[in-house]
Amino acid sequence: MKVIVAEHAGFCGGVKKAVKQALDASRQGRVYALGPLAHNDSLLDKLREEGVIFVDDLAEVPHGATVVIRSHGERPEVFRQAEERGLQIVDATCTFVGKLQTLVARLIEEGKQVIVLGDPTHPEIKGVLGWGRDQPIVLTADGSISELEGLNREKPVALVAQTTQRQSILAEIGEKLKAIVPVVEIYNTICQATALRQEAARNLAYDVDLMVVVGGKNSANTRKLADVCRSTGVRTIAVSEAHELDAEQLKEVRTVGVTAGASTPDWTIKEVIGKMENEKNTELQEEQTATEEVS
Ligand code: F3S
Repeated sequence: MKVIVAEHAGFCGGVKKAVKQALDASRQGRVYALGPLAHNDSLLDKLREEGVIFVDDLAEVPHGATVVIRSHGERPEVFRQAEERGLQIVDATCTFVGKLQTLVARLIEEGKQVIVLGDPTHPEIKGVLGWGRDQPIVLTADGSISELEGLNREKPVALVAQTTQRQSILAEIGEKLKAIVPVVEIYNTICQATALRQEAARNLAYDVDLMVVVGGKNSANTRKLADVCRSTGVRTIAVSEAHELDAEQLKEVRTVGVTAGASTPDWTIKEVIGKMENEKNTELQEEQTATEEVS
C-alpha cells in the first residue's frame, strides 16, 4: 500500500505561533490559556506537560498572572477584563482572525449590514460577533438565506466568512444573496492556510482509493477538510488518533492519501501513518498464512 501525505497538512502558521507563544511564556513562569489553544487533545496534553494551565474563565486566572488568548481570538471585552484584573496578556490571535475582527468592526462602524458565514457556536465567530457589537447576522454553511432572521432585503449586504470556511460555499452564498438584496460585497476572509490545505487535499483525493483525515473531533477545519475529500467521491475516514484506524478500513486499498487539520501535530500524523503500515503488514501476513493452508 502506498501512502501519500498531502502538501500543507497539519499545523498552520496560526497554531504554530500560538503554541510557541504559550511555551515561551511558560518558560518565564506560570501561564494560563483561556480556552483550548487549539482543538486537538494530544497537543493540549503536551502543553499541559509543559506547564500551561487551561481555564474556561478569566476569573480562574490569579491577579497579575499571564494569560494567553488563543488563535481563535476573543471578544474585545475579554481583553478589557484581563487588563482590569492586572493580567499580562499574550495575544495569540491568528493574523487572519485578527483581520476578520478588524474588518467586521469597520463594516459595522460604517453602518453596513454584515452577514458572517460560519458556525455561531465556534469561538472564532463568538469573538468576531463581539468586534461587530453583536450586530452581524450569522449564516451557517447549510443555513437557508430565505429564512435569515433580521435581514433587511432593501439594504446592501457585506458578506464575510469564518476563516476556515470553504471558498466554494462563500461564492455560492454570495450568488444566492445577490438574487434577493440590491448589492452584495463579498470579502474573502478565508485564511490562505485553509484554502491551500483544502486544495491540496482535493487534488490528492482524486488520485487515491482512500483519504484519511487526521484531526480533533471538535476541529472545524478538520471537519471541513473531510467534507472537501468526500465531495470528490473518494471514501474518506476522519480519525483523531492512530488507534481509531483498523485493518478492515484498509482492506483492498492500494493507495491512501493522508491530510490533517491545522491543529494536528506532526507526531499524530506520523502515528497514524505508522498504524496504517502495521495494519497493512498484519493483513498481508494473514493472506500469506491463508494461501499456505490452501496449498
Ligand atoms: Fe489562522 Fe488559518 Fe490557522 S485562521 S489559526 S492560519 S487555520
